[in-house]
Amino acid sequence: MANKKELRIGLIGCGFMGRTHSNGYNRVSNFFPDLEYRPVLKAACSRTENKVKAFATQWGYESWETDWKALIARDDIDAVDICTPNDMHAEIAIAAAEAGKMILCEKPLSRTLEEGEKMVEAVAKAGIKNTVWYNYRRIPAVTLAKQLIDSGKLGRIFHYRANFLQDWTISPELPQGGEGLWRLDADAAGSGVTGDLLAHCIDTAIWLNGTIKDVSAMTETFIKERVHQATGKVQKVDIDDACIFHCHFENGSLGLFESTRYARGHKALYTFEINGEHASIRWDLHDLNRLEYFDHRDESIVRGWRSIHVTDGDQPFMDKWWVPGLSIGYEHSFVHQVADFLKSLESEAPCAPTFEDAYETQKVCEAVIASANSRSWKNVD
Ligand SMILES: NC(=O)c1ccc[n+]([C@@H]2O[C@H](COP(=O)([O-])OP(=O)(O)OC[C@H]3O[C@@H](n4cnc5c(N)ncnc54)[C@H](O)[C@@H]3O)[C@@H](O)[C@H]2O)c1
Repeated sequence: MANKKELRIGLIGCGFMGRTHSNGYNRVSNFFPDLEYRPVLKAACSRTENKVKAFATQWGYESWETDWKALIARDDIDAVDICTPNDMHAEIAIAAAEAGKMILCEKPLSRTLEEGEKMVEAVAKAGIKNTVWYNYRRIPAVTLAKQLIDSGKLGRIFHYRANFLQDWTISPELPQGGEGLWRLDADAAGSGVTGDLLAHCIDTAIWLNGTIKDVSAMTETFIKERVHQATGKVQKVDIDDACIFHCHFENGSLGLFESTRYARGHKALYTFEINGEHASIRWDLHDLNRLEYFDHRDESIVRGWRSIHVTDGDQPFMDKWWVPGLSIGYEHSFVHQVADFLKSLESEAPCAPTFEDAYETQKVCEAVIASANSRSWKNVD
């Protein structure tokens, strides 16, 4: 370890994602020993001193800050990791880029296209490495799906179908806004399920199946008013609780996407299915080590859906973990993204998805909301 170059991390936001990223930084060097760089946990930042102190101690950060501007001003930080709610992404990222720091930013890139554009410009101007944590790309079964599609096994693609279903906002008693509930407040989140959940589906879809040309969407806000935690008053809810859209991809295939937080019984059911001329694939986050594959070219008497347990050493990332047959989990996708970011420091190569890539997803999200609001088709441009 001592002979490795250091990437000194300053992490801002110590909630759910702060934990997944810290876990990634802590584990990566043990499982990816060939990397030239290793992360060093220099500082964590959150607004409340006792909370950030406890977090820093728990995860092994050398120090803490309660003001993100102070963290960015430090000259012992190489990379800023943005794990705050969406309304802070643009301000922090632009300041970090101006200070010459590398940036790892949580998704969605921004609340609006306008913010996203400024962020893309800022990292381009600064010429710094950047990535956005669309981590599902690095679940081995999803990466294998990409390899199968790119190798031409599916042939021409006809259909792309994705769902992201949850059920945690059904109670009208649930307040909006503030700590833990910022996702229900449009000012903090930008949008509802579109930016929070469909953004993941769109990122994966663009990666696997190419550009989305145009969209036709509908959204619904089932609970129209909720108490706001900050004011204590009942206020209008401005996020989309559910969103369904269909679209054309540049390659001629049709897409169908659905996301909601009102699908009773589903906690985080992200699924996709892709139907091609020769073969189909499907994947389900609840069984994330498996990729289902159907190949029409198989001999007819044995033709059927195969359930590929993606745990073998020649499948993506799996040579880094245990032995064939043994599973890994959700948290490993973040370890993989850290590993790929560190690898990208060894050359000029970017670590996808970059801000520029994530901006493409942002364009689709914006078109989806505009389409739903206007009840018309919208081009993504
Ligand atoms: N990649 C994924 O799968 C995934 C999953 C969940 C969330 N996210 C994204 O990660 C981001 C954070 O989400 P989360 O679920 O971790 O939220 P969270 O509410 O669990 O944590 C957010 C943290 O940011 C802190 N924070 C807020 N304002 C701050 C400020 N001004 N300075 C310093 N700290 C501040 C909060 O105190 C909290 O600790 C969001 O952009 C979200 O969309 C991504």
